Amino acid sequence: MSGPRRVFGIGLIGTGFMGQAHALAFREAPVVFPDGPGTRLEMVADLDPAAAARTAERFGFSRSTGDWRSLVADPRIDVVAIATPNFLHKEMTLAALRAGKAVYCEKPMAPTLDDAREMAAAADEVGMPGLVGYNYLRSPAVALAARLVEEGVIGTVTFFRGLAEEDYMADAGTPFSWRCRRDIAGSGALGDLGSHAIGLALRLAGPVERVVADLDTVVPARPAPPEGELRERRDGTGGMASGPPRAVENEDIAQCLLRFASGVCGQITASRVAWGRKNRLAFEVHGTRGSIAFDQERMNELALFTAGSGRAEHNGFRTILTGPGHPPYGAFLPAAGHGLGYNHLKTVEVAHLLAGLAGTAEFFPTFRDALEVEKVLSAVLRSAAQGRWVALAEL
Ligand SMILES: NC(=O)c1ccc[n+]([C@@H]2O[C@H](COP(=O)([O-])OP(=O)(O)OC[C@H]3O[C@@H](n4cnc5c(N)ncnc54)[C@H](O)[C@@H]3O)[C@@H](O)[C@H]2O)c1
Repeated sequence: MSGPRRVFGIGLIGTGFMGQAHALAFREAPVVFPDGPGTRLEMVADLDPAAAARTAERFGFSRSTGDWRSLVADPRIDVVAIATPNFLHKEMTLAALRAGKAVYCEKPMAPTLDDAREMAAAADEVGMPGLVGYNYLRSPAVALAARLVEEGVIGTVTFFRGLAEEDYMADAGTPFSWRCRRDIAGSGALGDLGSHAIGLALRLAGPVERVVADLDTVVPARPAPPEGELRERRDGTGGMASGPPRAVENEDIAQCLLRFASGVCGQITASRVAWGRKNRLAFEVHGTRGSIAFDQERMNELALFTAGSGRAEHNGFRTILTGPGHPPYGAFLPAAGHGLGYNHLKTVEVAHLLAGLAGTAEFFPTFRDALEVEKVLSAVLRSAAQGRWVALAEL
């Protein structure tokens, strides 16, 4: 790299599951990608100031705060990373954009399509495209799948199936959480998990034209979380007292049929109550000459079947183990088959964000790109409510 290294001041809001992943990635990206920009870890914000202080100390951020607005206003911060419950994304994004910051926001963008549209419009207005946390698009195996499709290795695409299954709420005794609230989360398994499958569908099979969907809430009420253990106490809504079971407000399972703009048909299923499935973010793409299959639980493998290659009795799916030939694997490891993990995807995502800010990469997926996922989410909800096919053009 010629000239002095660009360095961006980082502010991170949220210290939960994703906050920790972001913090690690902001540390790692400049080390793993030494030719890219650097980071100056400035500040962590959380509604719980002690949690903010702990995360700041642990990951090497200089300061912490219990007030995210002071983080957004801080002149040493160039990038605001938003890793809070979904209903806060819009307010935080708008404030950060108005303060002239770059925004890196977790998915889904917001509980409603209108909110997501407002975020994308605000980003357009200030000329800051935003980056949304669809980290699975960073996977070497997914990139390989996209390349195989683009190169026509499986012929013309005829079908896409996406699954997003986990069991984090399969136990009916798992307490009610912010993810069960419509005002905070928006949809349930659909937005939380299905959004990733939709992001992959858009990447591999192109824009969606219409959907027909069905939803189910198999655990209609959940125990209120015990006092003192409430993540909800920290979500800005004042918390909920422990007490009688609380009605779950969104779906545990979403399934839908899709018709892509290309004319290809497909399916998406999302479930947060699929016992035994830990992160089965899986897809199959079928084509006129072959098929590709992927499962995030085995994220270092891609299965490829090509028709007519060799004797029929020997022909089957072959497993390709990712390696340095499948970028950006080689940034981490020089040898194939040793394997990347989830956090590496976040590191790649952050490296991409920094390169985008330095003008050496195109931001992807921007708020505009992620809005296409939000439209599918919204169409699925409308279709399930009205029992009919819904075209995205209606929204
Ligand atoms: N990209 C992915 O793979 C992925 C995975 C999990 C979650 N997510 C997304 O990340 C976001 C956060 O999810 P999570 O699992 O980390 O949730 P979490 O409940 O583990 O953490 C949320 C954090 O936000 C903090 N917070 C709440 N209100 C706040 C406020 N007003 N000011 C400052 N901090 C506040 C909480 O204290 C907590 O630290 C969600 O949008 C979720 O959909 C993305």
